[in-house]
Amino acid sequence: MKIYIVEDYQQLSAKAASIVASQVILKNNAVLGLATGSTPEGMYSQLAQMNREGKVDFSEVVTFNLDEYLGLSPDHPQSYHYFMHHHFFNHVNVSPRNIHIPLGQAKNIAEFCLEYEQKITEAGGIDLQVLGIGANGHIGFNEPHTYLKLQTHAIDLTEETIEANSRFFFSPEEVPRQAVTMGMGSIMKAQRILLLASGKNKAPVIKETVSGKITTELPASFLQLHRDCTLILDKEAAALL
Ligand code: GLP
Repeated sequence: MKIYIVEDYQQLSAKAASIVASQVILKNNAVLGLATGSTPEGMYSQLAQMNREGKVDFSEVVTFNLDEYLGLSPDHPQSYHYFMHHHFFNHVNVSPRNIHIPLGQAKNIAEFCLEYEQKITEAGGIDLQVLGIGANGHIGFNEPHTYLKLQTHAIDLTEETIEANSRFFFSPEEVPRQAVTMGMGSIMKAQRILLLASGKNKAPVIKETVSGKITTELPASFLQLHRDCTLILDKEAAALL
């Protein structure tokens, strides 16, 4: 793992944006795996600015999002569809036909998941996968468990994740109990991985991710096995390293 420790969230966002932008400059039709959560918001805003200034062109870029809540419609303000359009897609020249986000309201979810995997394969696989991390070690919505799934699948969220994500909803009861997520294999097959973490509440999980046991009880620990995984951490998230 390559680890960059930066001063604060502002620097984290700037560094992450420059890594994503350089990927797109190197390969104008790059396939990007994208993440939601509050951590990458600053990166998206900097990428949008670089796009406005003509420094990076997303017109040929293909995107695949990691996950979505099951049951939420794409226009629900807490859906990841809404998040991605609000924070990124509405502000850059990415082509709508190149945007892929798991559908939380798919009629046949198992079939949808298979098709999602096929689309990633047909696009040539993911060049650069951006990840956040849950305080319990989840990546995407691959939650700690006795086993992990390889491919895109539906999953029950843990109480910890429901609680953590309830800050975006009016009450914890409103948080969907299930989600659809790329699997560990979908993520680990990416050519490059870029994980972002900010704040002191992420320090313990970052320590485990970097130097703890590789275990299904901490899905992010599998990133130790990836051959090109970069972590960008602010000082608080890196405090226990
Ligand atoms: C959600 C998402 C994850 C994200 C995590 C951390 O559960 N499914 O992809 O990494 O939240 O979010 P935050 O960046 O807000 O801490």
